[in-house]
Amino acid sequence: MPALIGSQLTDEVVSRYKDCSDPRLKEIMTSLVKHLHSFAREMKLTEQEWIKGIEFVTSVGQICDEMRQEFILLSDVLGLSMTVVELNHGTGAGETEATVQGPFYVPGAPELPKGATVDGNPPGDPLDVTGVIHDPKGKPIANALIDVWQAGEDGLYSNQDPKKPKYELRGKFRSDRDGTYHFKSVLPKGYQIPTDGPVGVLMRATNRAPWRPAHLHFMVSAEGYKPLTTHLFVKGAPHIKEDAVFGVKESLIQDFKAVGKNTYALKYDFGLSPRA
Ligand code: BEZ
Ligand code: FE
Repeated sequence: MPALIGSQLTDEVVSRYKDCSDPRLKEIMTSLVKHLHSFAREMKLTEQEWIKGIEFVTSVGQICDEMRQEFILLSDVLGLSMTVVELNHGTGAGETEATVQGPFYVPGAPELPKGATVDGNPPGDPLDVTGVIHDPKGKPIANALIDVWQAGEDGLYSNQDPKKPKYELRGKFRSDRDGTYHFKSVLPKGYQIPTDGPVGVLMRATNRAPWRPAHLHFMVSAEGYKPLTTHLFVKGAPHIKEDAVFGVKESLIQDFKAVGKNTYALKYDFGLSPRA
């Protein structure tokens, strides 16, 4: 049998998915194979480059564990995460824009009463966060769950340092009957994405900056509405124009107002979109 070359090979690989009973999986594998082959051809990939790529992806997998998700980080720095966010979340009027989740979310943070401070008694400049959760028309949403997390003053999340309390700078809060929510935290600071693994190797090899501008993370959910994962960024924060993971959107840059000596307040209303 003659060797399959060029597009014959691609067609043959694609044809091996003909019996796939899941139409979406078939569609995804077909497209993936076509794009991978054309990428290799366009780059005239050498065998050394191919094995280097294999070794890189292997090292990304090897560093992953329960606490570390290097694949999400890789997806983030390649802009893939934000592409997927864009495909799945609109920018409708009255709705808060979504952004990347990032690799540092930890499920199971304690649910705290309205007005309480996030978990772990964190050091830092006090920050008061208030607002309303509403639908696109502005109608308040009661009993919405607001799951928040952020990095500490040292730029590390609780799951990056085994000495930190598991849920430091994390907590869940509920909106009241009038849609209002309130919690206390500390002013977030900018930080570098983890560069001690393969993604760091890639960033250095390509001379890319690893900074993320200061932000708070939110996951907001309510019955009948699409869950929202987003950040609020500190207006004027360093690196706001060069976020390593492309997560900054103009509408998410907010005024963290100084309301006293080293004391801050943020007021932000979240708009949720109804579930389709
Ligand atoms: C974060 O904001 O937690 C984050 C997002 C993407 C990559 C690294 C960190
Ligand atoms: Fe973050």
